[in-house]
Amino acid sequence: MRKTLIAGNWKMNGDRALINTISNSLNNAEIHAQVEVLVCPPSVYLSELVDAANGFNVGAQNVHQNQSGAFTGELSAGMLKETGCSYVILGHSERRSMFIESDEVVGSKVKAVVDEGLTAILCVGETLEERESGNLEKVISKQVKEGVSNLTLANYEHLVIAYEPVWAIGTGKTASPEQAQEVHAFIRSLLVEVAGADVASRLVILYGGSMNANNAETLLAQVDIDGGLIGGASLKPDEFLTICRIASDLKL
Ligand code: PGA
Repeated sequence: MRKTLIAGNWKMNGDRALINTISNSLNNAEIHAQVEVLVCPPSVYLSELVDAANGFNVGAQNVHQNQSGAFTGELSAGMLKETGCSYVILGHSERRSMFIESDEVVGSKVKAVVDEGLTAILCVGETLEERESGNLEKVISKQVKEGVSNLTLANYEHLVIAYEPVWAIGTGKTASPEQAQEVHAFIRSLLVEVAGADVASRLVILYGGSMNANNAETLLAQVDIDGGLIGGASLKPDEFLTICRIASDLKL
């Protein structure tokens, strides 16, 4: 059975005070052993959160695809690893649209991350226009296939995919559990094609886009939804903990 992963993506939000509050709240939580909790703060707080965390994981939100060099302002996977973090979110739609990250660049970042032994969370998702014009499967298929194009079969142990419909991110408009399940099943079928049924059946696929304490249960109850990538609601420690508890109860 696949584990559940509840991941918070703080984006460019939060501060030192929130690092303390979130760790106090999560450190004492009783969460099912099959539920993994992850918090991804801005990278300057990674080491501090790693030191404060007891029983939950810490991740970054981006990386540079090269190991070192003249890339002012960038961070390599090796540097992120040295902070003690264990995950990196890649290809988030905000990075694709605002920082013009192509599928090819995202694919090299995924490879750089897994080669360091960190787990890559590859984000994919369609815009409303792409969905309404009937291009959903084409877009998702390209993002998934190019995102994993550099991976060996062994690398899939260090891969998570997050389906985040762009129209649902930060908008309060969640995909319905049925809409999300349909795309998750489609993503799993793509993985069968590129990596085989065994890898595909073990791959954790998260849903992201306005997940909160009210809608988490029905989304997480879908067979191919293995967790959430949570933005806004992850900045509220009580609500984030509630979502972790919902995931935990679903494992009982
Ligand atoms: P949201 O963000 O939960 O605020 O919609 C999710 C994400 O962008 O990962």
